[in-house]
Amino acid sequence: MTWKRIEDGLRAINERGLLREFRYLESAQAPHILIRGKDILLLSSNNYLGLCNDDRLKTAAKDAIDQYGVGSGGSRLATGSYDIHRRLEQSIARFKETEAAIVFNTGYMANVGTISGLTDKDWVIFSDSLNHASIVDGCRLSGAKTIVYSHADVQDLERKVKENQGAPGLIVTDGVFSMDGDIAPVPGLADVAHHYGLLLMVDDAHATGVLGSHGGGTSDYFGLQDAVDIQMGTLSKALAGEGGFVAGKQLLIDYLKNSARSFIFSTALSPQMVAVSVRAIEIIQEDKASRILLMENAIWFRAKLKEAGFHVMDGITPIIPVIIGDALQTLHFSLKLLDEGVQISAVRPPVVATGTSRLRITLMATHTRNDLTQAMEKIKLVGGQMGII
Ligand SMILES: Cc1ncc(COP(=O)(O)O)c(C=O)c1O
Repeated sequence: MTWKRIEDGLRAINERGLLREFRYLESAQAPHILIRGKDILLLSSNNYLGLCNDDRLKTAAKDAIDQYGVGSGGSRLATGSYDIHRRLEQSIARFKETEAAIVFNTGYMANVGTISGLTDKDWVIFSDSLNHASIVDGCRLSGAKTIVYSHADVQDLERKVKENQGAPGLIVTDGVFSMDGDIAPVPGLADVAHHYGLLLMVDDAHATGVLGSHGGGTSDYFGLQDAVDIQMGTLSKALAGEGGFVAGKQLLIDYLKNSARSFIFSTALSPQMVAVSVRAIEIIQEDKASRILLMENAIWFRAKLKEAGFHVMDGITPIIPVIIGDALQTLHFSLKLLDEGVQISAVRPPVVATGTSRLRITLMATHTRNDLTQAMEKIKLVGGQMGII
């Protein structure tokens, strides 16, 4: 009976075109990858600055292995804290212009641990309707009353805040929305937070290293470092490593160290991954040129998609959603593109709302114009064959 339920559940997922499968890479994460020995153009990586295969980061990892070995051997509060963890946390705090920072093993764990460690049933959380699953899960785990406001709608947020005053409160939002690629209205959110005495948390997973004059993310982009109380981010996307972090006041970080269960009850990140992030932050701050290239690629590609007649969501970030609508058709599009040598993910429910399935294109600074021209031709070819354009 129990196994039958699982079997039926999997079949139903498949029938709705929602089954997910692995595509195994046989080379480094870069504009060109090998899948089953075939050269494929990759347009769905979070390796925004192309650092995953960077020699400087590989050297940092190798040096750290020589110095520290491989595993960390313990949780951070037991025997798994190395001097290099401290260096990384200090460097994140400088990068994000905050007093302190704390590193988690993943961005997912940073969100879940921070929200559930900070808030409880006495709190109210105001959460954007398109927030990442790790924020949603953190809210659920916290036991706090969670009120979802319409996507990026400051007026709706304020109305809901007014109706729910009197309890300690947190406003939480993605900085750059992972499936839509738009930027949160951080100035408006900060005004509401300030006016009503709430904390503001921004998840800069997709903005860190990408937005802002120093690559510091949405707070840097808007010049609002002081107005965002909790700057969350990942080390796993533009920074090309693994891990997540929270930057903010020393008081916040000390509290999370003692309350975030996903931080406390998990083995620390290995020293070599930490060393990669230390070096990546240095590179990102020095290398403005890659950020500019990335933005130029994003502007060019968005314009070409629109010109070709695709339904593309507006924006400036390297996350470019092409709305197809139907889940099966989106999957079909993605599979046909793979046959043509282009990898673009089909994003379907439950990740996005029913009827808004999409090809989620993400660009890298290291894509050449030639790569992008070739990809565009294939997208137009398949789009034409399927009657989408
Ligand atoms: C907005 C957002 N927050 C958090 C995460 C989780 O980060 P990580 O992949 O480092 O666990 C992701 C990535 O998938 C994300 O897109």
